[in-house]
Amino acid sequence: MKNTKAIIFDAYGTLFDVNSAAEKSKEKLGEKWESFANYWRTTQLEYTWLRSLMNRHKDFWKITEDSLDKSIKVHKIDNSLRDELLDLYKVLKPFSEVERTLKTLRKSSYKLAILSNGTPSLLNELVNSNSLENIFDDIFSVEDVGIYKPDSKVYDIPINKYKIQKNEVVFLSANTWDVSGAGNYGYQSIWVNRSNNIFDKLDFTPKHEVSNLSELLDLI
Ligand code: LAC
Repeated sequence: MKNTKAIIFDAYGTLFDVNSAAEKSKEKLGEKWESFANYWRTTQLEYTWLRSLMNRHKDFWKITEDSLDKSIKVHKIDNSLRDELLDLYKVLKPFSEVERTLKTLRKSSYKLAILSNGTPSLLNELVNSNSLENIFDDIFSVEDVGIYKPDSKVYDIPINKYKIQKNEVVFLSANTWDVSGAGNYGYQSIWVNRSNNIFDKLDFTPKHEVSNLSELLDLI
């Protein structure tokens, strides 16, 4: 990975396990917990894309609530679980290799940052509740530009702050559409493919594919 000056991570699904909220409530949710969790996540993302296209921005926390409300109705889940699921979403757990990998990277001279759809307060709470507060140079949120990924204004944020070229950023995401968005923009985009999934057909092929974050250490 040549010319790298910054290593930037997506947050939800890449560093933090978005299904860990519903998983913690799986006894109350019953056997549909996983389809419910996937539906919630898919609806949440659809709302980000639709709101960007409609020019009707609403922050990620409100979108997380709206998509949860729809998912609760579709899956006929007791509404009394709503607050519990939202509280758990604020303290999602990182994937197992994340802390160790980030601490190793922190010893390097690369800028390390998060670039996420999340609101600044949500992202700070996630980072702090998982004792990762000394890792990142910056936590960049789409709230700075009022539109969601994969709009290029989002990927501009670190470029403007660090005054570097697009191809000096290594970007990692587990979300295929975010890998394509960032790669299409000009980052060196890496797909974190933890579940042996199939990549999207969006006229972009990721520079590298890793099965977890620690494999990044062999690439840089
Ligand atoms: C984020 C979503 C895309 O953190 O996972 O930006």
